[in-house]
Amino acid sequence: MFETIQKLAPDPILGLTAAYEQDSNPRKIDLGAGVYKDESGVTPIFEAVKMAEDLWHQRENSKVYIAQAGYPECNSAMLAHMFGAEHPALKAGRLRSVLTPGGCGAVRLGAELINRARPGGTIWVSSPTWANHVPLLSNAGLKIREYPYYDGKSHAIDFEAMLAALEKVPAEDAVLLHGCCHNPTGADLSREQWDAVTETAVRRGFLPFIDVAYHGLGDGLDEDAYGPRHMAEKVNELVVAYSCSKNFGLYRERAGAVMVMGRDATAADAGLSHLVNIARGIYSMAPAHGAAIVKLILNDPALYQVWVNELNAMRERINRLRALLADTLARKNAPVDFSFIRQQRGLFSLLGLDKAQVQRLREEFSIYMVDSSRVNIAGISPKNVDYLADSIIAVL
Ligand SMILES: Cc1ncc(COP(=O)(O)O)c(C=O)c1O
Repeated sequence: MFETIQKLAPDPILGLTAAYEQDSNPRKIDLGAGVYKDESGVTPIFEAVKMAEDLWHQRENSKVYIAQAGYPECNSAMLAHMFGAEHPALKAGRLRSVLTPGGCGAVRLGAELINRARPGGTIWVSSPTWANHVPLLSNAGLKIREYPYYDGKSHAIDFEAMLAALEKVPAEDAVLLHGCCHNPTGADLSREQWDAVTETAVRRGFLPFIDVAYHGLGDGLDEDAYGPRHMAEKVNELVVAYSCSKNFGLYRERAGAVMVMGRDATAADAGLSHLVNIARGIYSMAPAHGAAIVKLILNDPALYQVWVNELNAMRERINRLRALLADTLARKNAPVDFSFIRQQRGLFSLLGLDKAQVQRLREEFSIYMVDSSRVNIAGISPKNVDYLADSIIAVL
């Protein structure tokens, strides 16, 4: 059976982590994989998560399957959390949520749903986008096309080009947008830009599909939800993929949700019925543990407050590190203006280095980042920032 199967190259990002771990240089810095890390390089468990797990350990009395769409109290809390409890689409009964194995599970299920409605249809993704969007969307059967997004020269969104491309997207296509903390560029749409994209979506009739993987890690929970909330007020149909990996620190528990908004409650129910049917044919039932933790945190005001405080501290640290790197590079007279790092949001920025420069940083300075020069800001610290800035300047 498997004689024709050839060994594949390892995943480039996971290979980078392995190379970092083997490096014996005490000054080595890991800016590769996209996970949050604290000052000591550890990806911590949220205190709110530990408290919820203690509660859950006492309360859980069975391991029997949960409902096909997941815990109803988790789904309703997540919809209110994403869109706001008073959102008109929520009040009109037009939104449904299905718990998924992480944000990837949500992106895949959303893509499968689009493929059910329009087999072999087209989805437009930003150039660049997170590398894993490509297999998640295309393995569902969708064709992928790109719209211009980030201009590497100005280190900012080329909004004019983006909008001009969206103006030509046919009504039967879908368009993938990043809710906040764009991966890999860190360049997010402003409110005015969200408004303009929404207006184009309404006029052209394409389906917006918003990937929300860093809710609360950009400017705040409400601020980061502006795009999905505004779009859900204006468009007829919407899909959101939500990940609880980063903002709840639940990575390995695989917690996330795919949310679908229909024209009315009947259409939303039809979408829901297909989502659970698709899941049944892939992995059948959603993992329960991470979703149970999210359910407890979102439904208990005291736990919620503990979680929000931790999330805020995390976001503030990321933004402090952004400023620290930009300032350190400027103070050391870097020949390139890196002030864009301070303005961008989330875990990532693209330094704008070429492959050879990235390779030199790895080989000569033991600084590890993805070939595109995407850096994980959480890997920076006041202790390593001078060495990092000196090394970047050395390869420029
Ligand atoms: C843009 C984007 N979407 C979705 C995800 C989903 O991640 P997970 O499946 O671990 O929740 C990630 C994680 O890195 C991401 O960066």
